[in-house]
Amino acid sequence: MGRNTAVVGLQWGDEGKGKIVDLLTADHDLIVRYNGGANAGHTVVVGGKKYALHLIPSGILSPEKTCVIGNGVVVDPAKLLEEIKSLHDRGVKVESNLKISSRAHVVMPYHKEHDAALEKVLSSAAGKGDRNLSIGTTKRGIGPAYADKIHRSLSVRMGDLLDREYLAARLEVICAIRSRELDALGVKTPPLDSAALTEDYASMGQRLAPHITDTVYELHDALREGQSILFEGANACLLDIDHGTFPYVTSSNCSTLGIPAGTGVPGANIDHVVGIMKAYTTRVGEGPFPTEELGETGDYIRERGNEYGTTTGRPRRCGWLDLVAVRYSAMICGVTSIACMLLDVLSGFDELKLCTGYRLKDGTVTDRFIPDAHRLPTAEPIYETLPGWQEEIVDATDRDSLPAAARAYLSRIEEITGLPIDIVSVGPDRAQTVRSARPTAALGG
Ligand code: GDP
Ligand code: IMO
Ligand code: MG
Repeated sequence: MGRNTAVVGLQWGDEGKGKIVDLLTADHDLIVRYNGGANAGHTVVVGGKKYALHLIPSGILSPEKTCVIGNGVVVDPAKLLEEIKSLHDRGVKVESNLKISSRAHVVMPYHKEHDAALEKVLSSAAGKGDRNLSIGTTKRGIGPAYADKIHRSLSVRMGDLLDREYLAARLEVICAIRSRELDALGVKTPPLDSAALTEDYASMGQRLAPHITDTVYELHDALREGQSILFEGANACLLDIDHGTFPYVTSSNCSTLGIPAGTGVPGANIDHVVGIMKAYTTRVGEGPFPTEELGETGDYIRERGNEYGTTTGRPRRCGWLDLVAVRYSAMICGVTSIACMLLDVLSGFDELKLCTGYRLKDGTVTDRFIPDAHRLPTAEPIYETLPGWQEEIVDATDRDSLPAAARAYLSRIEEITGLPIDIVSVGPDRAQTVRSARPTAALGG
């Protein structure tokens, strides 16, 4: 059929993936998360109503579509139940339209405690004059849960929550070991109570049971029937465990390379990849960011763009658009078209800067990204300066109605990346979207 699409972040997250997934949901039958967990915060605004989604795919607002949490996601059942309830309370249907992989690994309370405790230990090491090795995680237990998955012996999967006896036996061993580890990290709590944990998680399993299934067969059955899939990336390519700015990354393959492993659908089934990119760059948490603006420019972008985290509320670091990074992510993810988000935030600048290369310490110039947090800080951005525009553009409906300088900014990005910008977003609402006049495959046309 050739209609399966992936949506992926090309920067350090929060590019506006939720908005575009909601928009492209209309052209697909199933919307599938393949990575990450409740560290993601995807915002969808429809008719002035705002929804923040963390574990449930952003397609959930379209009740006739099926949403799938794939095996590559780490699921915090308590958070998921909270999210289901808050959607229910707002009249959003979450019933048989949500499927959860029985093979997705569970985020347990001790994962979150471990995440927070390790971050604390690492950041206090900085006070003693050492380098700050804390990552600035969301403290959602993501790293420890994925570590358990890779380590195998001490992990719990969603399907395990449905078998109380099996769960109890596993948790007995796990809790004994985890209690000792938490103690060593300085967490002052009583030893973990495996019986209470079994009770809680088995009961959450029962509540989630109608959704838990073998999603791999569900997806392949759907594909055989000619249905189309929209894959929703969480986090972003520069946070990918293998290809991001290691170690300041998250613990999953958030690039499109994570799709096959995280869903059981081979990569050859992905026909279009929409790379989501802000018109500038942001980052939340620690780690290098070559085009970061610490003064007035960064503050102006943060305030106009309301750049505060959807999950943690932390202020996001802001700076100019880094096209070296975007081109790298587009290459890794196989991007076929770009959605340029939050263009409205840039109104009011006399001049705008685009980073097109890096100058290294020895004076050499490169257009290659450096996916290594130890070496990236040695890169000094090389900028091209373009004229800005003063007009507000939040009501623009087509690309021709944008100010000439905004059109020139977009065209220059297309030239440098070699990719078409098929979607331009000029405000948070679903309606504040300028779509390409030419029908493209990426738009389902
Ligand atoms: P995601 O994690 O990639 O889904 O992005 P987030 O939801 O964390 O952050 C994007 C933020 O930008 C949200 O608050 C959106 O409502 C908002 N947003 C999305 N597109 C636009 C846009 O074009 N203009 C403005 N001003 N805000 C936008
Ligand atoms: P969405 O899907 C922005 C960042 C965290 C931290 C690092 C590791 O909303 O774009 P973790 O809790 O995953 O161990 O944190 O990754 N991070 C994100 N930053 N948006 C996200 O998701 C993120 N998910 C993780 O801030 O620096
Ligand atoms: Mg987000």
